Amino acid sequence: MEVWIERRPAPAGPGRRSARRRLAIMAAALAIAAAGCTSTASEPPLPSFAPVDPALTLRTIRPGSPYVGTAVKIEALEGNTRYGDVLAREFDSVTAEDAMKWETVEPARGRLDFSQADEIIALARAHGQKVRGHTLVWHSQLPDWLSRGIFGKAELTEILRRHIADEVGHFKGAVYAWDLVNEPFDDDGGRHLSIWQTTLGDGYIADALRWAHEADPAARLFINDVDIERRNARSDAEYALARSLKAEGVPIDGVGFQAHLDLRRPFPDDLAANLERFTDLGLEVSITELDVRMELPATPEKLARQADYYAKAAAACRSNAHCTGVTVWGFTDATSWVPRWFPGEGAACLFDESYARKPAYAGFYRALEGRR
Ligand code: XIL
Repeated sequence: MEVWIERRPAPAGPGRRSARRRLAIMAAALAIAAAGCTSTASEPPLPSFAPVDPALTLRTIRPGSPYVGTAVKIEALEGNTRYGDVLAREFDSVTAEDAMKWETVEPARGRLDFSQADEIIALARAHGQKVRGHTLVWHSQLPDWLSRGIFGKAELTEILRRHIADEVGHFKGAVYAWDLVNEPFDDDGGRHLSIWQTTLGDGYIADALRWAHEADPAARLFINDVDIERRNARSDAEYALARSLKAEGVPIDGVGFQAHLDLRRPFPDDLAANLERFTDLGLEVSITELDVRMELPATPEKLARQADYYAKAAAACRSNAHCTGVTVWGFTDATSWVPRWFPGEGAACLFDESYARKPAYAGFYRALEGRR
């Protein structure tokens, strides 16, 4: 505020000067009072996290830490050694960011192409990483022949059954867990009106789980959803579904919480309690797509708040013995999906565009480790 006062044009005369000064001082006082109300007066200060020795990595945090995974983009791997190095050094698990989606694996009806995903699996094997499969039943990233086709219930049932049998069968033994059904609900807790829901009805989820279990009885099967971190209509619907599937003996092992967080919204402080009600059903939970986006440009203050969000998400998982893993949705701002999907936002990852560790990395690491 002082800078603002000093920059005012020179006063024209003594009378005007004192009026201006009074106004400027009042404005300054108001601004200071407003800042006190909106920002930190009532909030605890942001925690600071001890820096992590460069020789240590997320993979070295044991015991007690959930496994740590990341989504992998096949294009980023090609010819980019920094991407591959960080991926191999830091992560216990990988999820194919797009390579296992329907539009990639069956672009034309009956023409299966698992080559991109096979590449990811080979690399994961070479580095001793597990692979999380993503995703078999979703409304998005479907091939045109499917999203634009008109199919009756019997034919669409057969298409879905075949897809699950083919893909889960192909990756049998290589994929340890599947984000099988993705985003079945809307924010109001109603079923999302996908082609699956509208043509096949409510039972498609149980059918999909049974078919996947037949194709690979050892794979852990998850329903995965967005914006279910806090208690809300959507997470209540997810909970009711999970409970009834369990009660009916449908082979469901867990629920995935995507956790695409946004600094413009408060952290979901009831995350740990929410995870717990699902694990109380005898299910496993995982955080499957964690990232924390912000309005650009990033500032030191935003990066510190981001570190706090990453730490809180990791701590919520760590505090629950049945929260088995935390996967981040990409680890570097250089390849994150955020800027393309949320114009004006970005800087959502643990590493910056040059692959340097951000404050979020220390927050995430320390929380997984169980201390600050
Ligand atoms: C995103 C990918 O990151 C992008 O590369 C792609 O263009 C769109 O999909 N929820 C999900 C993920 O379950 O599959 C989405 O991934 C992000 C939101």
